[in-house]
Amino acid sequence: MKLWGGRFRKETDSLVNDFNASIHFDCRMYREDIEGSMAHARMLGDCGIISREDAEAITQGLAGILADVEAGKIEFTADNEDIHMNVESLLTARIGAAGKRLHTARSRNDQVAVDLRLCLRREIVEITGQILDLIEAVLNQAREHQSTVMPGYTHLQRAQPVSFAHHLLAYGAQLARDVTRLADCRQRMNICPLGSGALAGTTYPIDRWETARLLGFDAPCSNSLDGVSDRDYVLELLGALSILMMHLSRFAEEVILWCSWEFKFIELDDAYATGSSIMPQKKNPDVAELVRGKTGRVYGDLMGLLTTMKGLPLAYNKDMQEDKEPVFDAVDTVKMCLPVFTGMIASMRVLPANMRAAAAGGFINATDCADYLTKKGMPFRDAYTAVGNLVYYCTGRGKLLEELTLEELRGISPLFGEDVYEALSLEACMGQRRSFGGPAVEETARQIEELTKLIEEYRHG
Ligand code: ARG
Repeated sequence: MKLWGGRFRKETDSLVNDFNASIHFDCRMYREDIEGSMAHARMLGDCGIISREDAEAITQGLAGILADVEAGKIEFTADNEDIHMNVESLLTARIGAAGKRLHTARSRNDQVAVDLRLCLRREIVEITGQILDLIEAVLNQAREHQSTVMPGYTHLQRAQPVSFAHHLLAYGAQLARDVTRLADCRQRMNICPLGSGALAGTTYPIDRWETARLLGFDAPCSNSLDGVSDRDYVLELLGALSILMMHLSRFAEEVILWCSWEFKFIELDDAYATGSSIMPQKKNPDVAELVRGKTGRVYGDLMGLLTTMKGLPLAYNKDMQEDKEPVFDAVDTVKMCLPVFTGMIASMRVLPANMRAAAAGGFINATDCADYLTKKGMPFRDAYTAVGNLVYYCTGRGKLLEELTLEELRGISPLFGEDVYEALSLEACMGQRRSFGGPAVEETARQIEELTKLIEEYRHG
């Protein structure tokens, strides 16, 4: 018979039984479910709601179940619907009457909410570690390439020179925000709904602070209706993971461009590329493309749950059982993407000569040429127009700015002197950009330092 079978006189239809069950996906919360029940039982014993002997028997029984689940000795069943009722049934089968006292002053509604918070809290720690690994790989490449000049782009048109380190460190900054965003999310998640009961709390003299403390939460949630209805923490995590995937996807897109023959800024390691079944010459960036592709799936997980939640009256509704599959899918997808992405970035070979050659074309030093005139006293807007005329002059003759003779340059402005050639060199254009956050070596070194500190802080935090 069902745990809730008392008021029923018929068996559940077998299709309904399977339709209703969530055990095939919520079984992954077995540890959290048992941990939550242990804390609840201990609190019930401490508050004199059940005897200390019963509380002890429950704890022992649950520990045995945990060990058996981990040893693969237990088969959960859809007849017990979800992880909560599977564990409770197993417990009662093992220890008898004491097991039947566990659910005193508790509902599956607060139970599932606490389990999911415990579970996602743990996943956040794991994902954070993986992001830190990726930032480390980015930093290792950046350290090697602080003087490697590459074109910086806007509109995918060559704009101003940067270093490869500077470009990579922009991704480092994005990933650093992902780390702190997940930490914020974890902090708001770390509130305990246990003791909210079905929706309206309980008449038993429970101690919600004790269970919150035992489970490592910062406090019990303040409103019992909210405690069982709130899924903001799931949505926030899905939001944070969607933003993280968006970052990986943009990075992936650049990797795909960079390893094309049109760019050839990098060469992927053979271990991180794939071949074609028909074209013998091909070496494809499948890893980057798949990360870009999986981003859509994580966005879908977020949109799905937002839509599920939007019309639900307070408090618990069965619709909310639909929270787990998307968030588990998003968590698993992210955990699968991050390590391969990290391996790809760590092992890619950078081709500085090609980056430099690309940076040398496209009038990437035009702003610097205007700045040169400005520093000699010409108003910037006039200098801008003068250099625009020079670029026009050059394109007609197939020349670059630095290939013009001093006479040609002076034809536009008498302010040009011999020192202009030095000012137009790629080294100067990149290396003199020492403004805070810029590409100059001193500045990329500072950014590397900053991210190294963040890794330190969050690895041990
Ligand atoms: N399996 C349910 C879920 O995942 C647990 C809570 C069920 N509560 C209820 N009253 N049906 O949401």
